[in-house]
Amino acid sequence: MLDLKEKNPLEMLRQFAVNLNGDLLEDLGAAKLSLNNGNGKGYISLYEVFPGLTAWIYNIEFTRDYTIDLNFSKNRLFYFGYHLSGYQMTKFPNEGMAKKIGERQNFILSGEPDSKAQFKIPGKIRFESCFLIIEPNKLDNRRSNTKTQLKAHLSEIFGEANAKQSYRYFGNIDFRTGFYTERIVKNKRTDLVGRLLVESAILGMLASQIAAHDHDIDTESLQPDLTKEELSGIALMGDYIKENIGEKLPVKELSRRTGLSPKKLQSGVRFLYGHSINKYTANIRLERARELFNETDMNVSQICYKVGYTSRSFFSKQFQDRYGVLPSDYRNTLRKDNLLYEISYRSMAKPDVDGETVGDILMTSKSNNNSLDITGSLIYHRNVFFQLIEGPRRDVLELYEKIKKDSRHFDVQTIWKGSKPSRDFTEWDMAMISDEGVLTIPHDGNTQELGLGHLMGDIGQQSLESKNLWRKVRNVLKTSFENGDISD
Ligand SMILES: Cc1cc2nc3c(=O)[nH]c(=O)nc-3n(C[C@H](O)[C@H](O)[C@H](O)COP(=O)(O)O)c2cc1C
Repeated sequence: MLDLKEKNPLEMLRQFAVNLNGDLLEDLGAAKLSLNNGNGKGYISLYEVFPGLTAWIYNIEFTRDYTIDLNFSKNRLFYFGYHLSGYQMTKFPNEGMAKKIGERQNFILSGEPDSKAQFKIPGKIRFESCFLIIEPNKLDNRRSNTKTQLKAHLSEIFGEANAKQSYRYFGNIDFRTGFYTERIVKNKRTDLVGRLLVESAILGMLASQIAAHDHDIDTESLQPDLTKEELSGIALMGDYIKENIGEKLPVKELSRRTGLSPKKLQSGVRFLYGHSINKYTANIRLERARELFNETDMNVSQICYKVGYTSRSFFSKQFQDRYGVLPSDYRNTLRKDNLLYEISYRSMAKPDVDGETVGDILMTSKSNNNSLDITGSLIYHRNVFFQLIEGPRRDVLELYEKIKKDSRHFDVQTIWKGSKPSRDFTEWDMAMISDEGVLTIPHDGNTQELGLGHLMGDIGQQSLESKNLWRKVRNVLKTSFENGDISD
């Protein structure tokens, strides 16, 4: 159970990190809490679009039910939420029964200052969800019309309720918001394009939720003449389309599959997604195309035909309309993404690891890394490994996943990861630190010694485990090469 004080999102994430004993990595405007322990597996991350608007993203499976008692602050925050998978039980003060907020349902919450609400996320099921947290007191910005309008709209919505009371809105099932939420929760790219796509999806999600809220309040009677079963049949049609993405998928065929007349089907799709069947199918095709660009090396033409387009120019135009970039440019940014990438980590060797085992690791590494064009250095010192691997991004990430699963070590902690302009090592090598604190590095066929005395001086096993020490070792390694201290 977490007794959470409502503060700014980063401070709240820090309270989660302490309570769950997870790893919190902070960056400018973003933070990620990774969890891989008895409490659960996955991550919770934050992403600030501008001061006052932050996305809080769950992609996690808790080991058991996780209860959060949220103590609302005087600075009223607003939470616009949407669960892609999994659900949450919510109980506000003076309510006997907890309410379920289910999958793909829009909701907006805000608590009465100094009151408390309880949220329970069930254990053992994947919880993929996004909350947009709005801090109205940070939205004061005369130079931004969007922020001023957002603030005005919020006070309009919440003016409905007494400003001092809690506000809860549990909306309809809304698939349109799901399109945006999916892009936020499933994003894996950390480069500029990734950030832009996530930011646009966050704004899209907010717009979609505000529109859905206003729509629900104003036009309850506009619901089409379809039963719940018929609507959920239409929702399932998405799976059929995904499985047959390369086919033509005419409305007649979809109508036959769902057992609904084309007219009913058309109005149901319009109600759920806000556009025609053809546009809905096109969106799924384009989404799949984007996934294929991210996950495969297929070229633009191959992807175009694979997702069911027959004309490359039409595909390019639709892709650009949806994502703002031509497919060929998108492909190129991903190729760039394959440029030089580094991961450094430190890990603890299992007690039975000896010189022979280290020799085995080195032999495998030498031959595998050579063929992958991965270079770097492995340090083994008093049962601690430190490794720096550099090479094509995708290969480095794949190798790291493999290394992390190796049973000869444990507690693998990332020290640094990211792109870089040039290699620090020209070949794959093993470095050793002697007890005097001298790092011996084979470099371009010669053995070089690096004095780490000031860092390694009188360290014990305890500080050898510290990530900070290895961060410093990495810096010494890198600066030594840059300064030309080590050269041929
Ligand atoms: C500390 C440590 C570092 C390792 N470094 C590498 C490496 O740089 N390259 C590599 O291919 N395997 C490395 N391994 C071994 C991998 O975990 C894995 O056993 C190996 O890649 C399997 O190779 P194979 O598929 O050719 O059998 C490392 C293992 C440990 C424990």
